[in-house]
Amino acid sequence: MNVHATALAKAHQFDQQTSAFAGDVIDDLSQHPKRLSPKYFYDAAGSELFEQITLLPEYYPTRTELGILRDRGGEIADITPKGAALVEFGAGATTKVRLLLERCEFAAYVPVDISGDFLNAQADALRKDFPSLEVHPVAADFTAPFALPADIAGRPKVGFFPGSTLGNFEPHEACGFLRRAREILGDGARMIIGVDLEKNERVLYDAYNDAAGVTARFNLNVLVRINRELGGNFDISAFMHRSIYNRERYRIEMHLISKKAQNVRVLGRSFSFRPGESIHTESSYKYSLERFTALARGTGWKVEESWTDPAKMFSVHALAASD
Ligand code: AVI
Repeated sequence: MNVHATALAKAHQFDQQTSAFAGDVIDDLSQHPKRLSPKYFYDAAGSELFEQITLLPEYYPTRTELGILRDRGGEIADITPKGAALVEFGAGATTKVRLLLERCEFAAYVPVDISGDFLNAQADALRKDFPSLEVHPVAADFTAPFALPADIAGRPKVGFFPGSTLGNFEPHEACGFLRRAREILGDGARMIIGVDLEKNERVLYDAYNDAAGVTARFNLNVLVRINRELGGNFDISAFMHRSIYNRERYRIEMHLISKKAQNVRVLGRSFSFRPGESIHTESSYKYSLERFTALARGTGWKVEESWTDPAKMFSVHALAASD
């Protein structure tokens, strides 16, 4: 965080998480081109909007991944050691993890997420439905190193990272994440990971520019959050959502475009916008099976199995730690 943002954060007596948000927003809006980190989409309203996105007819990833997990549950169970601990990186809706818990014989479940409230609610629901499962939530930022609970020390470990959240990392961050996951889970570990695939650009465009405008509200909500939590004065109606496919980099980019020349104040700092100027808010990388296999290979994992849906829209991989 820069000095200015630190001082302002102190003056506002922000908690640690809000201070990090303040520092990142000031730094990122000072860049050329301007940007904001996609991790700040997920306040309560953003998480709710994301749940709505997953149900949109145009947004194929969630239902396609669920279909693969459902169809291939038996094969996943076959390569999962009995009595293992399942470590989920991020805690969202429990629909996907329930599919694994129903089919595989896990003894323990360790959801890891920065939002403690969300984690505990999720843990309580799973304890009720899987009474013999030990549930040990860990409140931590899973993009940084963290320690696993001592309770699962002797158990084989299986990581779970669904939803193609890996695609929201820059490729070097994706490598860093996989390398850290390999270290945290240890020798002999496995990992089940969902990765969105390269495909027809029109399908991608529609998935991130849905007709009902839910993705637009999700994108614009980060400005609402800045106004509320950091005392910003963004005029939400003066920005519009745009998603484009960047062919050279195999990624869908989400942008917020300024509709006019304007100045916005956040935490005592002024940011000027030209008409048509963009804030780049998210990249969603799409992989071929070959490019993902190569990425995993360089991070201490080998791809044991890859499953796709018949239309090859989405992939789920079983990785094994390579020694
Ligand atoms: C969470 N993540 C994998 C979603 C994606 O598809 O990149 C976030 C999202 N952004 C717009 N729509 C959905």
